[in-house]
Amino acid sequence: MRVAVISAEAVPYSKTGGLGDVAGALPKALKAVGIDSLLITPCYWQTKGEYIWHTAIDDLYVNWRGGTYHAKAFYSEANGSPTFLIDAPSYFHRDSIYGYREDHERFAFFSHAALTLLRRLGTAPDIVHLNDWHTGFAAVEIAESRRWDAFWRNTRTVFSIHNMAYQGGFGSEELWKFGFGSEFARNAFAFNGYASAMKAGLEASDTLSTVSRRYGYEIQTPENGYGLDWLTRLRADRLVGITNGVDYEVWNPATDPELPAHFDANDLSGKAECKRQLLDEFHLPVDLSRPVFASITRLTDQKGIDLMMQVAGEILATGSYIVSLGSGEKRYEDFWQRLRDHAPRQVGIYRGYNESLAHRIEAGADMFLMPSKFEPCGLNQMYSLRYGTVPIVRAVGGLDDTVENWDTVTGTGNGFKFGPYRADRFLERIYEALFAYADRDSWQRIQRNGMSIDNSWENAARKYVELYNWTLRL
Ligand code: ADP
Ligand code: GLC
Repeated sequence: MRVAVISAEAVPYSKTGGLGDVAGALPKALKAVGIDSLLITPCYWQTKGEYIWHTAIDDLYVNWRGGTYHAKAFYSEANGSPTFLIDAPSYFHRDSIYGYREDHERFAFFSHAALTLLRRLGTAPDIVHLNDWHTGFAAVEIAESRRWDAFWRNTRTVFSIHNMAYQGGFGSEELWKFGFGSEFARNAFAFNGYASAMKAGLEASDTLSTVSRRYGYEIQTPENGYGLDWLTRLRADRLVGITNGVDYEVWNPATDPELPAHFDANDLSGKAECKRQLLDEFHLPVDLSRPVFASITRLTDQKGIDLMMQVAGEILATGSYIVSLGSGEKRYEDFWQRLRDHAPRQVGIYRGYNESLAHRIEAGADMFLMPSKFEPCGLNQMYSLRYGTVPIVRAVGGLDDTVENWDTVTGTGNGFKFGPYRADRFLERIYEALFAYADRDSWQRIQRNGMSIDNSWENAARKYVELYNWTLRL
């Protein structure tokens, strides 16, 4: 079976969040279970030159807006699987990956260029695996073309929803510019008087998936459907939830090159050294008996930062440390700065994006805070589990599917989770975690329970293969 994965970001070429991790790792995992997979992603200005192996296609002529866009395609296997990077400087050589008024046009172009590239390569894939709104355009193009174009006749599409909150909306009057003039296409995009690339993907793809089982149900409710819950309910018989995997070649405390010391479930002693150096790196006084709470996240409303703001004072009152890595909305960045100014001997902050530091925080912290408002899957709680850093999370989406509450009686569980989006409930769990932390045996048990869990990509890749097979049979 031939599968082409198309994504707006993919590690190591580009990343703003979990989508990059997933799109980078999945093709490699598919290859490992015997699938002939290929990744297509943009070549951004941020994509490091060392990842570009050679120019595969110098003259990728893309029919675009009534003319021809002369793009290129670079080739690489830096993510462990064959990858084509679409080079279109006017669209992708910019200061940041997203955040432009014409993002819809940038990714409409990317979608069309990716399909143009596949045609140029000569054999149509059996499955085109699309990810999030950026690629919704391609779902419509394939559904439409295969009615008359023999090349696409046997190709089927799978559309994965990583985040329903971002839908790629724009004015319907622009659709014709991108080649979507037919009634079929206009209907697919039509959403409340404008065009939505997410809706188009949901409607025109053969099957749908989301990145955890629970999120698969949540997006069928008004609270998490963002106006499209009627459509996910309508297509529920074509929708499956597959929890993301973790790339244990990258996230493994026994081998991680970013760490000052190594450890595993049998011998946790290296973790203390990681904690010592982490405190040092944040210029905090080193007292290993006090717990370190950590947060690594995009600072957006989704991540429950306002709950964090409400509990931070209480955490500090227990004498604990808090370290935070992230950037995003100004009000949240200001909060962390104020907290740090208020308690410089207990709080460490790094505003910005720092992959290497993310690894050292996972290794050196004791507890990881993730009180998300919603969380399609979430990767950091899974990284935390492997690094013996106990997650305290809100029981939503993938957080609920991957974290199991610690039970003092049975000795089972790997973390702490709470339901209602309320600071007092969050704080209850934090106190419970501190109580467990005070008892060395219980704590090590919780750590080991988490470290021994297998969230590897291999399991997830097999489920995707089942999904592809099912899609081809429909
Ligand atoms: P989301 O995709 O919603 O941001 P995930 O938990 O799925 O959430 O993935 C976030 C990914 O981005 C993780 O790999 C996390 O380590 C990384 N990340 C987020 N913020 C930062 C940051 N400031 N520096 C380094 N890595 C970050
Ligand atoms: C999205 C979600 C996150 C998920 C990631 C990868 O960014 O917010 O929960 O883990 O996609 O699927």
